[in-house]
Amino acid sequence: MTDLPDGFPPRTASYEADPEHVGRVLLLYSGGLDTSVMLKWIQDRYDAGVVCLTVNLGQPGEDYEVIEGKARMLGALDCHIVDAREELAREYITPAIKANALYGGGYPLFTALGRPLIAKLAVEYARSSGCDTIAHGCTGKGNDQVRIEATVATLAPELKVIAPVRSWQMGREEEIAYAHEHGIPIKSHPTQGTEVAPYSIDDNLWGRSSEGRWIEDLDHAPEDDVFQLVTRPELAPDAPETVEIEFERGVPVALNGERLDLVDLLERAAEIGARHGVGIVDHIEDRIVGLKVRDIYEAPAAAILLPAHQELEKLVCTIHQNQFKGQLDRQWAYLVYAGLWWEPLREDLDAYMDSVNEQVSGTVGVKLYKGHARVVTRSSPNAVYDQSLASFGESGGLFSQTASPGFIELFSLQSRMAWRLRNR
Ligand code: ARG
Repeated sequence: MTDLPDGFPPRTASYEADPEHVGRVLLLYSGGLDTSVMLKWIQDRYDAGVVCLTVNLGQPGEDYEVIEGKARMLGALDCHIVDAREELAREYITPAIKANALYGGGYPLFTALGRPLIAKLAVEYARSSGCDTIAHGCTGKGNDQVRIEATVATLAPELKVIAPVRSWQMGREEEIAYAHEHGIPIKSHPTQGTEVAPYSIDDNLWGRSSEGRWIEDLDHAPEDDVFQLVTRPELAPDAPETVEIEFERGVPVALNGERLDLVDLLERAAEIGARHGVGIVDHIEDRIVGLKVRDIYEAPAAAILLPAHQELEKLVCTIHQNQFKGQLDRQWAYLVYAGLWWEPLREDLDAYMDSVNEQVSGTVGVKLYKGHARVVTRSSPNAVYDQSLASFGESGGLFSQTASPGFIELFSLQSRMAWRLRNR
């Protein structure tokens, strides 16, 4: 093994880059402190050219011209801004809806869905701009490094990865000092200045997460300033509002009777949900890398669309399908959470999800009120439901009440025998 330049830890994985082989780097650039410092640092430490890629997944309030300008100012050879909202909605959020995807009972996976797409785009842009290495700003403690690196190593074995935040051993103070030293502008926090570390935020069309600061103190109830997307329920309107979502084969296609393209529909649902304070989740989560973490999620679109979908699915499926699907839904959510988007089992599961969702067409009304979203109406041509059979007093057709006692006798047989044996 050749001697490494100062400060570079030896690599542990085959897909990590040896410093001397880094010629041109594709940097996943957000415009924030970490990746801005990284942009300079890579040019300095590796003597390499850097091409930036910034992916628009619908994170609100982003100014992509400013990001691009900053990248060029800091010496990027090029800065690609890619609008991938449509692809995120179509190829990632749609299957998540079909799988009723929630990890750990509460996390709708928005970050986990976005990362394989970001990494796939990084591979495409690295190849088309002659880069040999992909750099990202994930730390060594989270799931995002797993999702990004597993994707790159799967799709592009010829590309290598560097994750400077994992190895450069700069804390926030050192990064700020580095930024001052190298003329990297830092946007100061609107209320706290740069003295207090900001929350660690990640967001896209499907939701927003906050980590860090007091959130790490499990005993600390959420402070108001964390909610930058969803209205706090106590401030939400006093009048409830019901939204109607229409689905075709498991995919939401219309909102309040208006057909919308999927990105617009997700944005509209998020906007209405946010107004009514729905989608706040205070979540303790088992990370793939072993740690437990607490996240504060704001996922207003998911808080409306997931229950609506699940309710419709339940209506059009049989008892047997309904008993079974939850198990596969959980497996799907776990795979995606764990960064194994490209694992063939996911495609196998999707085939099942698609098959079930063939029937999931109809309309669901969801009533929103001060932080709650509750399904209040359902209708579907495929409902396995017959109002005349379900109602009191009626009999006949497919259902004969006089057959019930015979059924009960047989259905309870083993349970009755066992009870008697145990209570001799
Ligand atoms: N805990 C969530 C997950 O693992 C959210 C992570 C947010 N990522 C971030 N870099 N802030 O998917």
